[in-house]
Amino acid sequence: MLENEANPTISKSTGLPRKRFYRARAHSNPLSDSHFPVPVSPSRFDLSGHYPQFFPSYDQVDCSKKIRFADIGCGFGGLLISLATLFPETLMIGMEIRDKVTEYVKERILALRMTNPGQYQNISVVRTNSMKYIPNYFEKGQLLKMFFLFPDPHFKEKNHRRRVISPHLLDEYAYVLGIGGIIYTITDVEELGDWMKACLANHPMFEALTREELEVDPVVKLLNSATEEGQKVARNGGQTFQAVYRRIVPSVC
Ligand SMILES: C[S@@+](CC[C@H](N)C(=O)[O-])C[C@H]1O[C@@H](n2cnc3c(N)ncnc32)[C@H](O)[C@@H]1O
Repeated sequence: MLENEANPTISKSTGLPRKRFYRARAHSNPLSDSHFPVPVSPSRFDLSGHYPQFFPSYDQVDCSKKIRFADIGCGFGGLLISLATLFPETLMIGMEIRDKVTEYVKERILALRMTNPGQYQNISVVRTNSMKYIPNYFEKGQLLKMFFLFPDPHFKEKNHRRRVISPHLLDEYAYVLGIGGIIYTITDVEELGDWMKACLANHPMFEALTREELEVDPVVKLLNSATEEGQKVARNGGQTFQAVYRRIVPSVC
């Protein structure tokens, strides 16, 4: 019997996990305490389980090889999968708070590795609350790119503190991004788009990319189309609002 005949969670035709077996609640409260393991510091984050081709074992870690891209609230992982082949030598991680969704992304990556030998070895996913634990995973200046694609809007004013972009969290993101590193944000909720842009524009350690820079950045083209949420918005003909900012050294007056 074929393996996926025995395992109904895997599609027979594509070999990929079927989403309907990974149903999750629409939202998780990022301010509540969750119970999952978190590394005490970035140096204790075991990369060998995530990228076995790059790190054959925990004690054979090449310290120069670090995660450079982080997709915050990665959902079902569409962006990571598009980026994996675009930047095959760059290690990337998705951070996702919902356990079933994280499981789905894990299975999806494993299936892609099986069906495409040598590919998709540079992407992985971790279940975590990015609003609490970013500094546990990344050192100062480690990241080149951070993505916040279609984050939960948390419409009510009293819930704005649950938003993944805020002045306080931007301090943390500025810490883990290297100088010149880029934050990409996109949403279909105009008010949230204005909020994210205002937070970034008012932060002394970020500046907007110019129109010319946006046009030549291959990643910008993926923001609308690569993720599951982006595809849903596109299918419904929705408008999107993006803000793409670079980490800079703040100017001293
Ligand atoms: C609307 S979905 C967008 C998913 C994906 N970026 C996309 O565009 O398809 C937002 C995702 O962020 C996740 N999320 C929300 N708060 C989070 C947090 N504090 N840490 C990690 N993930 C979070 C949610 O579980 C959800 O999967």
